[in-house]
Amino acid sequence: MPKYRSDLMSIPSYVPGKPIEEVARELGLTAIDKLSSNECPTEPFPAVVDAITEAASHVNRYPETSAHRVRLALAKYHDVDPTEVWVGAGSSDVLRSVALSVGGPGTSAVFADPSFILYPITTMICGAEPIAVPLAEGYRHDLEAMRDAIRDDTTIVYVCSPNNPTGGHTSIDDVRSFIDSVPESVLVVVDEAYAEYVTSNDYASMVTEAASRPNVIALRTFSKIYGLAGLRIGFGIANAELIRSAQRTQAPFSVTTLAQVAAVEALKHQDLVAQRLADNAVGRSYLSSELTSRGFTPAPTQANFVYFEPDQPPRDLADALMANGVIVRPLGGGVRVSVGTQAENSRFISALDTVMVN
Ligand SMILES: Cc1ncc(COP(=O)(O)O)c(C=O)c1O
Repeated sequence: MPKYRSDLMSIPSYVPGKPIEEVARELGLTAIDKLSSNECPTEPFPAVVDAITEAASHVNRYPETSAHRVRLALAKYHDVDPTEVWVGAGSSDVLRSVALSVGGPGTSAVFADPSFILYPITTMICGAEPIAVPLAEGYRHDLEAMRDAIRDDTTIVYVCSPNNPTGGHTSIDDVRSFIDSVPESVLVVVDEAYAEYVTSNDYASMVTEAASRPNVIALRTFSKIYGLAGLRIGFGIANAELIRSAQRTQAPFSVTTLAQVAAVEALKHQDLVAQRLADNAVGRSYLSSELTSRGFTPAPTQANFVYFEPDQPPRDLADALMANGVIVRPLGGGVRVSVGTQAENSRFISALDTVMVN
């Protein structure tokens, strides 16, 4: 038997949303709606599919390891320097590399709870100590408590805005004051995986100012509004020196050729992105108001999902919904349902009605 590291079994496993095929097989169902992984419910843009198809015949070669064209396109789009853009196999790849570059045994990481499950997992993978700070009233990040939780051995802190799984955002003013209050020796990760869905006026992304700070990285992804979750591509924006240093922990060639080509093409279609933003906002309000009218109190959300805490155990509700053909995610004491197409959203509400009656 291999001599595993002694803390290996204490690292929680990442439990993804169940794949449609698996649920269908287990329950003998044919029609299933997967509203459990905050994916884009519609296919990639047609021009993106064409670009992937065209590039497929070149995959005998290794990908461009620095994702040069993606960085140029993103730098132009976000008005930063290409050296301030770091591309990874999903933003979780960048997140992991960042964590590994500052974290190890004898260090600690601070994040909100509940928040993105990869923060504690990544922290434990590093051999660092996780420090979870409960969300405040209204499912907000308790930035004061997070600041107080930072210890001498803390090297990284995560702010997830909008927050997964609850959906609320932190205003740009609050994010800025928080960053200002944190020692520069602590790396602040502002995780903006759902930034493109935000409609609130007091939200602004950190991408435009992350690079001007010594200890901040803003994370974004092509997995959500751009609909490329299956290809794995995301990025971070930070100052060039931070990227140069932290990048040493990233596996070479992690971002595939197809993912790079798709991202460059996807960025060109901002009109379609705007349409998705609008559709999501409609679906989000529909789900929130239907839940409210059934006596639930959904958390305020700016993302592509809605979170609510049912009276019964969240796992029981999720299992009952699954038996009715809708996969949602029990997380952090509540249930998170992703915004789907309007048809999927309606079927979720119908399934909920069926489950509530029984
Ligand atoms: C808050 C948050 N950050 C990062 C990610 C990782 O996204 P990806 O690795 O697909 O870019 C997710 C995925 O769901 C997320 O919810």
